[in-house]
Amino acid sequence: MKRKLIAGNWKMNGGLVQNQALVQAVREGLPAQSCGVAMCVPAPYLAQLAELVRASGIDLGSQDVSAHEQGAYTGEVSAGMLRDFGVRYAIVGHSERRQYHGESDATVALKAQRALAVGIAPIVCVGETLAQREAGQTEEVVKRQLAAVIHQNGHCISEIAIAYEPVWAIGTGKTASPEQAQAVHALLRTQLRAATPHPERVHILYGGSMNAANAAALLAMPDIDGGLIGGAALKAADFLFIIQAGSVPA
Ligand code: 13P
Repeated sequence: MKRKLIAGNWKMNGGLVQNQALVQAVREGLPAQSCGVAMCVPAPYLAQLAELVRASGIDLGSQDVSAHEQGAYTGEVSAGMLRDFGVRYAIVGHSERRQYHGESDATVALKAQRALAVGIAPIVCVGETLAQREAGQTEEVVKRQLAAVIHQNGHCISEIAIAYEPVWAIGTGKTASPEQAQAVHALLRTQLRAATPHPERVHILYGGSMNAANAAALLAMPDIDGGLIGGAALKAADFLFIIQAGSVPA
């Protein structure tokens, strides 16, 4: 059975002093038989984090990657630059980027391709809005979002991770129930089956108000392979509690 993966998405939070305290506390509290742990941090802090997580078992992640390889794209950060800092995971297609930065399914698929080309595993985010859930469109929306990535990257699809993040659960304190999340994860797994002989190797993470109180029940579901944690990843005690829940042998 594969190890679960607990990844923190710091979003636009952090500072040189806070980062040091947070990483140190998480390092010191990691269980001996830990699940996979990653911290996806703002780009300016990658160099600092690369030092702070050295030899800790914590992997480094970015929150985005450019869809372009290099050149005149002011403000963009390329996959090659991320690799220079030892980045192992890159979140792509987070709903905040789709919503506030107009990222389309096609752009997200290209970003995943750029990451894969340099050996970085994209964490592809999919998820429906509340209106889409209420209109019964959840399945259609998440399948369409994943299909774009499969279409562009079919040959190396087993190298990606997926995060199911219902938009209505992000930062709201409302969590999908373990059964609601499991139902969508199972759908995504079935969709992967058509693209890879080893769909079970792909980590499908749940994200959206995952916290110390609800993590164990979510992580106990058969197709929930870990979590993508926002707010609770900024507090060492909460993040460690979730890591502990993910590290319990199944
Ligand atoms: P919260 O855990 O703060 O709801 O954020 C989830 C998220 O968006 C992780 O990418």
